[in-house]
Amino acid sequence: MGGGPMLRELFETLLTPASREAQRLGLVHEQVAFAARARRLAAAWAPHREAARAAVWRVAETTPGQELAVVLGAGILLEIPLEALVARYRRVVLVDVVLSRAVRAAQRHHPGVEAVAMDLSGLLPALQPGVDRLVPPSPAPLPPEAGEADLVVSANLLSQLAIVPRRFLDQHGVAWEAQDAVARALIDAHLAALACCSGTVCLITDFEREERPTTGEEGATRYDILYGARPRIEGSRWLWDLAPPGEEDRTLQVRHRVMGGLFINPQGEESV
Ligand SMILES: C[S@@+](CC[C@H](N)C(=O)[O-])C[C@H]1O[C@@H](n2cnc3c(N)ncnc32)[C@H](O)[C@@H]1O
Repeated sequence: MGGGPMLRELFETLLTPASREAQRLGLVHEQVAFAARARRLAAAWAPHREAARAAVWRVAETTPGQELAVVLGAGILLEIPLEALVARYRRVVLVDVVLSRAVRAAQRHHPGVEAVAMDLSGLLPALQPGVDRLVPPSPAPLPPEAGEADLVVSANLLSQLAIVPRRFLDQHGVAWEAQDAVARALIDAHLAALACCSGTVCLITDFEREERPTTGEEGATRYDILYGARPRIEGSRWLWDLAPPGEEDRTLQVRHRVMGGLFINPQGEESV
């Protein structure tokens, strides 16, 4: 194998500008590893990438206004039809706690693209040794642009919000039940924030992890990665071949179920 890919990840992690919080908690490395996986598994991930981009575009096409689009969890722009959004909206604001190379390049190349580095959970500073009770702010913080945007896209962020906080709590001996409660609270707080947006909201999120052994007779094991939360969307569902056999384990296939489309505001009105 050689150390090439690992070294590349290490350099990218060191060279990505990010807040001390994001560095300290491993969010930068997390995103760099996601980018490396996306490169390595480009063929297996292609159907997911296309389904996600199509879901975003189907919602974008319906917005009456074309002034401002905000993308939450912009990541490496894998799931974002950026060129199409740039052509449709005068301003496109890309938001993530870590601004990837792809996002910074998009900002340089397109005059209408802005990038905002922001913790969308509001919880990261509270993750300190000794903490035993954590209550995320609800609704979760959003950049001010989201309130007035014609389109807000929550781009495969919902299940991710809890990953780093859970890992931190686990390393600090917090019980699983308490970890689950924080995870669910983070998810609910993000959904509550989306419900406050006055424009059209597109939600892309994975909601179930399926682990299937490729040997023996055992069936698949499924995990609810939204901890019981089930946001309503009008759109489509698909399978993301996240880790074909050999990626996480030689004899394990991991797939995620994903939904993407128009977020239906639980307050009873569509977020239109
Ligand atoms: C699965 S990736 C999203 C991929 C992205 N939509 C794309 O098209 O490349 C999840 C993203 O959520 C971001 N993220 C995780 N926790 C966050 C937080 N507290 N605030 C803001 N962004 C966060 C990560 O940095 C990562 O880029």
